[in-house]
Amino acid sequence: MSTFVAKAGSSLGKKFITGITGFGLFVFIVTHLGGNLLLLVGPDAFNAYAHYLHTAMHGWFLHMARAGLSAFFLFHVVSGLAVYRDKLRARPERYEKMADAGGTSRKTLSSRTMAFSGLVILVFLVLHVAHFRFGPGLEQGYVTEVNGVEMRDLYRLVVEEFNKPVVVYAYVFVMLLMGMHVRHGFWSMFQSLGLARPNTVPTLSGMGLVFGVVLAVGFMLVPLYILYFIPPPSEAALAPGVLP
Ligand code: HEM
Repeated sequence: MSTFVAKAGSSLGKKFITGITGFGLFVFIVTHLGGNLLLLVGPDAFNAYAHYLHTAMHGWFLHMARAGLSAFFLFHVVSGLAVYRDKLRARPERYEKMADAGGTSRKTLSSRTMAFSGLVILVFLVLHVAHFRFGPGLEQGYVTEVNGVEMRDLYRLVVEEFNKPVVVYAYVFVMLLMGMHVRHGFWSMFQSLGLARPNTVPTLSGMGLVFGVVLAVGFMLVPLYILYFIPPPSEAALAPGVLP
């Protein structure tokens, strides 16, 4: 056990943990984008999907997914910050000029802002989850029916939120940082797991760029589309008699 803790605490161990948890979060983010794009299909498609996630395996699927996701986030943040601290300690003096040293060194704006983008995403997540997961639900009248099944009208809440320009542009900003984080994190994950070779680094770095752009644009598309093309639902659409 103590050997395991010592290994996890070593520089390589921390990088490994950051890489493996980063991969898990990457899988979650791609799946989450797929689900969010259903917002563009329509209310029934999105609400039925969210309802399915909440009720699959009698609710256990979501419990397990949340537990795994929370653990991944926690380890990713703690080990990522420890790797960043080690880097600062190893090089207390800032470079006068930032330059790419070639080979497996990839200095980009994304790589230099990993700690900043990661912390902004963390703050975003707290607000995001508070807003949507713990936002108004059945008791507040956010109720709909799909194929005869009554469920939470999550679509309505999302459309209401994304009809506020401030919220939408805050999302756009965070999604830009999220894309940059993925852009560097993707190829860096291969390096941390010992899977990058000097000849594969350009390909992996290029793939990181593609994934970063696709995820950032995909996630931005949803709030921007709603702001400009989907009007907010009227108050009258709330279930009768439950307005506060
Ligand atoms: C346009 C962008 C996004 C939209 C429209 C969106 C939408 C949503 C909605 C509606 C929920 C509530 C799900 C439910 O309670 O059933 C949710 C939860 C969540 N979102 Fe997002 N999301 C976006 C971006 C992101 C990003 C970029 C991340 C990660 C960096 C993220 C991470 C999460 C997490 C961790 C949860 C909580 C999952 C749970 O515990 O149920 N979201 N999102």
